[in-house]
Amino acid sequence: MFETTRRRALQALGVGGAAAAAGCTVRAPTADAEKQRDRVEQQSTPSVDRIAADPTDIPEPIDRSEPAEVDVTLRPEEVTAEIEPGVTFDYMTYNGQVPGPMIRVRKGDTVNLTFENPSNNALPHNVDFHAAAGPGGGAEATMTAPGETAHLRFKATYPGAYIYHCAVPNLDMHISAGMFGIILVEPEEGMPSVDHELYLGQHEIYTDGQPGQEGTHSFDMAAMKREDPTYVVMNGEKYAMTPSVHGSAATVSTGDTARVYFVTGGPNLTSSFHPIGNVWEEFWPQGSLTTEPQTHIQTSPVAPGSTCIATMTFPVPGNFKLVDHALSRVARRGCLAIVTAEGEERPDVFDPDPQSGEGGTASA
Ligand code: CU
Ligand code: CU
Repeated sequence: MFETTRRRALQALGVGGAAAAAGCTVRAPTADAEKQRDRVEQQSTPSVDRIAADPTDIPEPIDRSEPAEVDVTLRPEEVTAEIEPGVTFDYMTYNGQVPGPMIRVRKGDTVNLTFENPSNNALPHNVDFHAAAGPGGGAEATMTAPGETAHLRFKATYPGAYIYHCAVPNLDMHISAGMFGIILVEPEEGMPSVDHELYLGQHEIYTDGQPGQEGTHSFDMAAMKREDPTYVVMNGEKYAMTPSVHGSAATVSTGDTARVYFVTGGPNLTSSFHPIGNVWEEFWPQGSLTTEPQTHIQTSPVAPGSTCIATMTFPVPGNFKLVDHALSRVARRGCLAIVTAEGEERPDVFDPDPQSGEGGTASA
């Protein structure tokens, strides 16, 4: 009964039967993408003060030795927010933030997902989990029109950090509007303990404006087809997690270790992920936890639809900038987060003023 109703509602929105197209296997781009954008713009979407996910809002490490059932609720929320002060944009999100909430389970756990598409939305949405071994990663099962709720149950059979993302026919548009996040499947033995964990997501936004041009920016389908973004951002906003916007992604002490869970939503650009003034002490490419980490990695590609797990240590204090080393994206399009380390200077490790005589350098 419910299924029939759901299908009919989706057909009314122009995606009927369409569940066939859901998932990472995409059919030809649909002609109604512009109509979708117009529908979002005509709908008066709620405004939110902040779209950037808090990088420290991460579920606690798992402290279990047995599998469990984990209940997860995702709500595809269409909201208006600022990309930077004075520039508004109609985002599509999971639970009102970019990236969507980090989900944390253990290998062997069963995820009981409730997918609630709010009735004040304009569009159908769904979710494709790369951590789910099944058709479309659950996209077809969760395809819902506004006002509908779907359920999906899957077992997390392999460990790693995996992207989840919207996979409706215009999936590139929905991801570019903010619909992606990470599900971390911890290995059975758990993750090594660290002092801090951080969650960051990079993606690009295609608008009809220039970076910094005040006013409302509309989604620009032609720019997306050209893969020519207006903004490239971490956590949804220009320079979101820096002291001048929402504050540093984290403030740590020298000597600490921080682990970063990083996802590239894309939809199109590969990140060249690099910590300025540092290296990735340990680096798990593609978020794969079944191999030993690489060590002392400077810059590593993180492709759209993939993740990495990386640790940093902080021998000396200062601001450490996490960037996409395609640096025009940093200087001109907003892609930057900062981790601030506080503690004693260590001139034996790094001395920015060796002439001052405080470094204790032996003269030769
Ligand atoms: Cu995918
Ligand atoms: Cu969507």
